Amino acid sequence: MSKPHVLIVDDEEEIRDILSFFVESTHPCEVSMACDGVEAIELLTQKNIDLIICDYNMPHKNGGDVYKHILESGLTCKYVMCSSETPQSFSEFQDGRSMFGYIQKPNIMNGIKEVFQRYKLSTDQIINQTQSEIQSYYPISTRLLVSLNNIPVNIFLKLSDGKYVKVFSEGSVFDETDFLKYESKGILQLFALNFSTDILVQKVQKIIENISKGVGKNNKAQAIVEIQDLILSILKDYGFHDGLASVVEAQISETIKLCEHDRTLEMLLNKMLKIKGSYISRHSFMLAAVTVALANKVGWNSETTSQKLVMSSLFHDVFLKEDILNEVSFLESKNMDDDFISHPLKAAQLLDKIPKVPPDTGRIVLEQHEVGEDGGFPRAIAVSETTPLGQLFTFSHYLVDAILELSTNNEFSKSALEQKMQKVAARSSRYKKFLVLLNELKLY
Ligand SMILES: [Fe+2]
Ligand SMILES: [Fe+2]
Repeated sequence: MSKPHVLIVDDEEEIRDILSFFVESTHPCEVSMACDGVEAIELLTQKNIDLIICDYNMPHKNGGDVYKHILESGLTCKYVMCSSETPQSFSEFQDGRSMFGYIQKPNIMNGIKEVFQRYKLSTDQIINQTQSEIQSYYPISTRLLVSLNNIPVNIFLKLSDGKYVKVFSEGSVFDETDFLKYESKGILQLFALNFSTDILVQKVQKIIENISKGVGKNNKAQAIVEIQDLILSILKDYGFHDGLASVVEAQISETIKLCEHDRTLEMLLNKMLKIKGSYISRHSFMLAAVTVALANKVGWNSETTSQKLVMSSLFHDVFLKEDILNEVSFLESKNMDDDFISHPLKAAQLLDKIPKVPPDTGRIVLEQHEVGEDGGFPRAIAVSETTPLGQLFTFSHYLVDAILELSTNNEFSKSALEQKMQKVAARSSRYKKFLVLLNELKLY
C-alpha cells in the first residue's frame, strides 16, 4: 500500500514544523502543509489527502470551514483537530460525525502517536476487507500444473478457510516430483489467485499447438494422450470453455484418423500400452481405438458413428477420480461411492454443453457401465435394454480394462484375455456377437 498523504494546517510556521517532524517520525507518509483554511481547501481539492491535522483559529477560513468543506464535498479524508481548545467548544464539531481524532496543544507528540495508532488500525481493516472482497482463489489440480510446464500464475496452498500461502511463483516449473510430494500428503489441488480461466485455456491452447507441431508419425499416439490429459484436467476443474471448442474438435478428428490409420487393432493397442499418461487418458484413448475398430467390423461405419464413439470414449470418464486405476477392477471391488456412481451422469451433462456433439453421444456415456443387472450401474438394467452403440461401448470398455489390468500385472496372454472376455460375453447375446467379431479382428 502507498504511503498516506497527510496535510498539516496551522498559521504558525513553528507549529507546522513540529507537527510535520512528529508525523514523519511516527508513520511513513507524504506531508503537505498549509498556513490557513483557504490554502487547505485548495490543497484538498488538488490532491488526494488521506488525513488532515488542522488548527482551528486561522486568519483566512478556520478549521470549522475546512471540516465543513470535507463533509460537503464527500471527501474520504480523515479530519483531526489540533487545537488548545476542545472540539465541543465549536458548533461545527458538535455531532463529531467525521472527526477522526483530536490533538490537544501543547501535547502534540502523544496526540500524534494516538492518531496514527488508530489510523493504522483503520487502514489494516480496510486492507483486510478489500482483500476478502476482491481476492478469490481458484482451484487448480496438481496434475494440470505438471502438464502446464511453466505455471502462468502464482500458486497457493490452502492452509484453512480463508488462509493461503504462496508455494510457487508465476513462471516456475511444477514437475512430477512436486506432484508426488503433494500427492503423498493427500493434496491434489492447489490454488491460483484472481486469475481467469481464459489465461489457462490460452496456455493450454499454446501447449497443444506445440505438441501438435512437434509430432512425427511415430509419436502421434503419445501426443494425443498428452493433449487428452490437458483437456480432461481443464474440463474437470472448470467445465467447458468456448476456447476449448477447436481443441476438442481437433482432438477428435486426430483420434479418428489415428484409429483408422493403423492396420490392425493389435498394433494400435500395443502402441498405446507403451505410451505414458494418466490411466483415464490411456483408457479413454484405447477405448476409442477399440470401439471404432469393432463398429467398422459390425458395419456401423458412418462418420457420425465414429464421431459419437470417439467423443464418448475420450470424455466418458472426465469426472472419474484420479486414484482409480482400473474401472472394471474397481467395480468388482464394490467400493463405489457417490462420486463414482455420478460420474457417467456428470460427463453426459458436460457433453451437452460442448458444441457439435452428435445426438445420442450423452446416452452412450450414461450407459458406459450398464453391463447387466448384477454388475451394472447406475440403473443396473439388462444389457438388452441399452442402446446398440451403448452395448458396443460397454463391451469394448470391458475389453480395454481387461487388457490394462493384465498388462499392469504382467499377466497378459491372449488366453487370459479371452477367458475374461468370454465371461463378460455370457451376459448378453449381443456381447457374444461382438466377441466373434473381436476374434476376427485377430486381437487374440
Ligand atoms: Fe471408463
Ligand atoms: Fe467410467
